[in-house]
Amino acid sequence: MSTFLIRHSGAILSERTKIRVPGDKSISHRSAMFASLAKGRSIITGFLESGDCLSTVNAMRSLGIPIEQTGKGTFVIDGRGGQFTAPGGDVDCGNSGTTMRLISGILAAQPFHSRLTGDPSLSKRPMGRVINPLSEMGAKFTPEGEQGRPPLVIEGGPLRPISYEMPVASAQVKSAILLAGLFAEGETSVIEPATCRDHTERMLQEFGVNLELGDTDINGRRRIAIPGPQQLTARDFAVPGDISSAAFWLVAAAAKEGSDIVIEGVGLNPTRTGILSVLQRMGARLEVAPVDTSAAEPQGRVRALGGKLHGTVIGGAEIPNVIDELPILAVAGALAQGTTIIKDAKELRVKETDRIAAVAENLRAMGVPVTETEDGMIIEGGHPLRGARLQCFGDHRIAMAFAIAGLFAEGETIIENVECVATSYPTFGATLEAVLEY
Ligand code: S3P
Repeated sequence: MSTFLIRHSGAILSERTKIRVPGDKSISHRSAMFASLAKGRSIITGFLESGDCLSTVNAMRSLGIPIEQTGKGTFVIDGRGGQFTAPGGDVDCGNSGTTMRLISGILAAQPFHSRLTGDPSLSKRPMGRVINPLSEMGAKFTPEGEQGRPPLVIEGGPLRPISYEMPVASAQVKSAILLAGLFAEGETSVIEPATCRDHTERMLQEFGVNLELGDTDINGRRRIAIPGPQQLTARDFAVPGDISSAAFWLVAAAAKEGSDIVIEGVGLNPTRTGILSVLQRMGARLEVAPVDTSAAEPQGRVRALGGKLHGTVIGGAEIPNVIDELPILAVAGALAQGTTIIKDAKELRVKETDRIAAVAENLRAMGVPVTETEDGMIIEGGHPLRGARLQCFGDHRIAMAFAIAGLFAEGETIIENVECVATSYPTFGATLEAVLEY
């Protein structure tokens, strides 16, 4: 059992703490899957070697794709042009919703039977959102858990195209349908109700796929269509740093006077940079310098200077853009003067844990007045934080968000069972220790 023991820290400075962020989780998953789908050899660099992304690598290996790791974050993948072999046993997706949902789209089209399993947290997460559209396309799904929960047994086969209007703004659902659409005869299309991360669209195009991207209408809806069948072309791909991992240090630095950090090579895809706009709205002093804007996935440098934050309202169409950053933004709200309201974020209840309940419980334990609502929370910021013994509920982002909160609290903060941090940011603990050495 590992724990974080955190004490109040001084300014956060990148020279002192060597703040670097590992590869983007969403992009790493897709790079492994798309290189596996492509015909020929792709070399992926900057790949995030975290529990979740390794679940995707191992799942692809279990489907007959040769994948060799040749260096830190470097994987050589010999894709088989959309051909896979039946797995010898269950495909274990670990803690990773992205692995299970995206692979469902690929397995829906395969002429064999597969069974997807996950850890206790993943086994509680809703899969009806991918089962429904993929079943409409002709695959047969048998969820063994209650109400469409995993394990999922999939009988794949020939698929027919569909036109699907997603009830939730989910990049995972959008991606599963587009991946299945690669194998269907004719045009498969999906309408997203609000803009959600578009890595699948950008990266499929990078791997040579022809997509039709509609314009976003005044209500934020957009249609994405894929004429099928299509094959991907192998190519080398460099994964940028994860802005969701950078978010922890950006909040820590922005809220602490005297801090000055620079994070290089961080992904700046506009469907992911909501964290920067929300922090700027809260008064954070950020400097953003895009470096590589022509790449499929833009990246650049972000500098954060310490100062004072004030409360804000986070809701509506910006929620999908900051969905993974809401735990750390809630901590930012607690550190800010005034009230911060998070709303329209019901999806937080079906993440690795119920993140609304977990954040509210932990903030309260640190002395912050919080009102939990059905789809978010109201945080009264500006109260001194006190150290506490906290649970992270097996959720990596809860563990990291509250480790940052601990840097601002009087006394010691202890967070138990933090092994889950390896799900998305295996080196977080080492950077945290460097911060604490101050
Ligand atoms: C992800 C999409 C988001 C996000 C998750 C990663 C992805 O989930 O929360 O961490 O890589 O597509 P939803 O699509 O369920 O919103």
